[in-house]
Amino acid sequence: MEYDSKLMTLTERQKACLDAMGIDVWLPKAALAVENVEQETASAVVDDVAPGKPVAIAEVQPQAEHVTSNADVSALGWEALQTRVAECRLCELHKTRTQTVFGVGNRDADWLIIGEAPGADEDRQGEPFVGRAGQLLNAMLQALGLAREDVYIANILKCRPPQNRDPKAEEVAHCMPWLQRQIQLIQPKVILALGRIAAQNLLQTNTSLGRLRGRLHYIDMTPTPVIVTYHPAYLLRSPLEKRKSWEDLLLAKKTLESAAS
Ligand code: URA
Repeated sequence: MEYDSKLMTLTERQKACLDAMGIDVWLPKAALAVENVEQETASAVVDDVAPGKPVAIAEVQPQAEHVTSNADVSALGWEALQTRVAECRLCELHKTRTQTVFGVGNRDADWLIIGEAPGADEDRQGEPFVGRAGQLLNAMLQALGLAREDVYIANILKCRPPQNRDPKAEEVAHCMPWLQRQIQLIQPKVILALGRIAAQNLLQTNTSLGRLRGRLHYIDMTPTPVIVTYHPAYLLRSPLEKRKSWEDLLLAKKTLESAAS
């Protein structure tokens, strides 16, 4: 793999981040050491409804129209959009979530990072990618010279699926307009899709992640290039793939730089 000459002037912090990604910039031909990273285990689901306990009253209360509709999303500004998402009850996931996870970061960012759905940590804290996968994502960004605050981070789903199961098609269909509006508002210069679920749902395809990597994609007629890479949770389980992920990140960086020049 070819390395960008700029990598020769890395800060100690960036070197540490590249190290966390398994990228050895000093000895590019050296064999990768096999990292002994524990498998990321799904967190236990917090079931706060005791057996036999009556079902939450909210389920039978009349609902305002906006909690069961995402019409007119294209006219919403940030604050209205965030409120609508927080109140959303379009799918079953609102019954098991602690809170919605809207997205975080720079609303004028060049980079939009899109993951799959909140996990247990994100559901608890209300922010995407705050668990172990998030720590690796931060390291990946820092290796590129980006702080977490420089980019915008969101997910395909705003609510955690129970036991971190894959999102259902109907959940994605209900949730996608929120993300589409975020994309319209941010107008990023590049979108990085993390993992198969994010990539396939964004690009409306069943093509495997392996075949989606390494090239530019476009969502419908939008001008923003989408680059697909591995999900950080997968990279924690399969650290040898970090090298390929780094290639994807460099492709995204190069794409952004050539769009700017
Ligand atoms: N995995 C995701 O896809 N998104 C998160 O926010 C956290 C973990």
